[in-house]
Amino acid sequence: MAVEVLTTADGREKTALSHRHAAAWFAARKAGTPIPVGTASPPLRPARPERPELLDPRDVPRRRPGSPAGRIAILHAVAHIELNAVDLHWDIIARFGHVPMPPGFYDDWVKSADEESKHFNLICDCLEALGSHYGALPAHAGMWRAAEDTRDDLPGRLAVVPMVLEARGLDVTPGMIDIFRKAGEEGAVAALETIYAEEVGHVAYGSKWFHFLCGRDNRDPKDAFHDLVRRYFHGALKPPFNEEKRAEAGLPPDFYWPLADEVPPRAV
Ligand SMILES: [Fe+2]
Ligand SMILES: [Fe+2]
Repeated sequence: MAVEVLTTADGREKTALSHRHAAAWFAARKAGTPIPVGTASPPLRPARPERPELLDPRDVPRRRPGSPAGRIAILHAVAHIELNAVDLHWDIIARFGHVPMPPGFYDDWVKSADEESKHFNLICDCLEALGSHYGALPAHAGMWRAAEDTRDDLPGRLAVVPMVLEARGLDVTPGMIDIFRKAGEEGAVAALETIYAEEVGHVAYGSKWFHFLCGRDNRDPKDAFHDLVRRYFHGALKPPFNEEKRAEAGLPPDFYWPLADEVPPRAV
């Protein structure tokens, strides 16, 4: 099921399939006849539609957020992130099937993948209401790098994807919501508020299973997190951090501040 999602290129088709598979997974769990977790051979990179054109982040044109074109560019970038997130959550299921994990591990990522599918469609609907669509602008090419770098390392994947990249979403989404609220674009505000609320859960699942794996190996989770992020994430973490939502998601300050390019304000 995961590989089928990963090898579907079109965004609307990929997310519809993702939703159907998630519904089947949870229906089987509820009926007491869970779908067995097997092993699979996911592609190194997921299938992608012909558009958007994927560019080096330095070559993606910047637009002013105060303009309608700038707001479309923000939503386009969010749609691209959500589509990658759908694949990231199915990829963790397909790629690490050989690591014995409790069924709740799969529940969490199937639920996350289903939510990302909804997020992609919500943002695509906003883009279309504004006369654009996903694929109309170029997008970042580097989005799958973290997945490739951690393809053999489940704790590394959890550290970098949910606990660094998705946690970064918690930091920046309130500012985005403000931009759309000031512009009176209530549809985008509602979509981003749904995303903001649900992303806390994805970071929390990352932290939960990261701590589980560290505990099973008798490893100190904070030290392991610092080692793995330094190994797989290129560059420092960028404050300001959303300390409240990070705490809600089980990410304490001593996990992320030592990886930032500045010291916490109260330590100055
Ligand atoms: Fe999302
Ligand atoms: Fe997410």
